[in-house]
Amino acid sequence: MPFDPTLLAQARHVVVFTGAGVSAESGIATFRDKLTGLWARFDPAQLASAEGFRADPALVWGWYQMRRAGIAKAEPNAGHLAIAALAAQVPKLTLVTQNVDDLHERAGSRAVLHLHGRLNAFRCLDCARPADEPVALPEDAVHGRRIEPPRCACCAGPLRPGVVWFGEMLPEAVLEQAFAAARQCDVLLSVGTSGLVQPAASIPRMALAAGATVVHVNPQPVPCEHPRAFMLPGKAGEVLPQLLRQAFA
Ligand code: APR
Repeated sequence: MPFDPTLLAQARHVVVFTGAGVSAESGIATFRDKLTGLWARFDPAQLASAEGFRADPALVWGWYQMRRAGIAKAEPNAGHLAIAALAAQVPKLTLVTQNVDDLHERAGSRAVLHLHGRLNAFRCLDCARPADEPVALPEDAVHGRRIEPPRCACCAGPLRPGVVWFGEMLPEAVLEQAFAAARQCDVLLSVGTSGLVQPAASIPRMALAAGATVVHVNPQPVPCEHPRAFMLPGKAGEVLPQLLRQAFA
């Protein structure tokens, strides 16, 4: 039985849970798509871990500035815009993202819960003090080169990106807010995620267990063995605008 869009129109509280796939149509590489995924081309252990950063700060900092430059040139896509528009159509919407880009915010979404941190937040690797001034983005960063990280104004330690690296804990308060929303919502839209990385990946199952209806938006099949779990196959930028037209037209 297909998902009934009126369930979205009748929902009191909707959670939208996004992964890298929601930014794919903005030209931002996902992590695990074959060939194009970041982890098919780069080593996550070397580039997305504190050990990797300590081993070669200039390589890791340069890689994140390259990603930051790519995101700065990108635009939110129709999927981001539909999610921002949905917030005005339902009594309550909680947006939880695994993404570290700012495309949800640039599409107009507010109070975005970033489970894996944000690329544009920087702090000292040693004393954890947040960078107290904007961190310049070198013109040629988009080509990817070694760039020495700026130094902390307080202890002169190297600044690091404010993203959650492999082996690091997620921000506790943000995770608790996301779990609470998953347990309270009526509908959870899971958009553009492979559902492989815990603890974020448990959020759709948590919503299902608490009685919500879960809808997966993904061009790839996602297992839906539960009567309240549905699949809307396709790209976020196409499926979400259509879903809103069907639910609220
Ligand atoms: N619309 C919707 N989904 C899409 C689109 C699209 N246009 N293009 C690709 N996808 C789907 C892919 O089919 C895949 O299921 O998006 C998903 C992306 O999966 P991943 O690359 O694994 O990204 P994500 O699930 O966000 O990864 C979770 O892993 O490495 C860590 O910190 C990183 O936050 C990331 C986490």
